[in-house]
Amino acid sequence: MRMRLEQLTKTYKSRNGGGAQFYAVQNANVTLEAGETVGLFGDSGSGKSTLGMMAAGLLKPTSGSIFYEDQLCAFPYRGTLRRNIQILFQHPEVSFNPALPLIKSMTEPYTLYNLPYSKQILVENVERFGLHEEHLHRCPGELSGGELQRAALARLLVLRPAVLVLDEPTSMLDVITQAQMIGMLRDYQQETGASYLFITHNRSLCDWVCDRVYDVEQGNITLEE
Ligand SMILES: Nc1ncnc2c1ncn2[C@@H]1O[C@H](COP(=O)(O)OP(=O)(O)OP(=O)(O)O)[C@@H](O)[C@H]1O
Ligand SMILES: [Mg+2]
Repeated sequence: MRMRLEQLTKTYKSRNGGGAQFYAVQNANVTLEAGETVGLFGDSGSGKSTLGMMAAGLLKPTSGSIFYEDQLCAFPYRGTLRRNIQILFQHPEVSFNPALPLIKSMTEPYTLYNLPYSKQILVENVERFGLHEEHLHRCPGELSGGELQRAALARLLVLRPAVLVLDEPTSMLDVITQAQMIGMLRDYQQETGASYLFITHNRSLCDWVCDRVYDVEQGNITLEE
């Protein structure tokens, strides 16, 4: 088993006083096999992103455990664990410094993880995602949402992650660009056996992409039959 979320819970303090707890996610049990795409399907505010952020190591669970390849994961993730589990957000702008030309952000993973780098390696990487060298010299605000999301994906996949949390990665895109993104994710999955936790409130997309689906309803997570 690639990953296992066990009795994962996240509470927030209620704003209306009295010290009451609000359960954003309650006792979630989720499994993820190698090469599998598992859906988290539910309405706005049901707890999908909260669960995804915990799985990605960006949000500390209130209680419960996360296992990666049967190893208990400590928060925050470090070293290879941190590299192996990545997240892609709905709004690609949050992944990029708006003041910097894209090339600065795109070189980060190579620097951070000491990966072989040359301008040519970078250009060949982005070209696989339908972008060109010229795009790299623009600032994030000068690219379309779809282009920026493809750049975000290109940058993530440099790390060769084994688990990707995809938090509504295509909901800002038109259907053509959405299909292209899904195709790119499929290619990477077939090539590497990566596992995806696919967050969406789009039923048809969910049925198209996911092998198994968990329903998320007011913080409760149940596997669909
Ligand atoms: N930092 C926080 N403090 C208090 N409440 C929070 C916080 N973050 C999220 N919540 C609440 O937790 C609940 C779950 O939020 P979450 O972002 O996980 O929903 P979601 O299913 O991803 O929704 P959407 O589809 O709109 O993205 C919501 O009621 C939200 O208001
Ligand atoms: Mg969300």
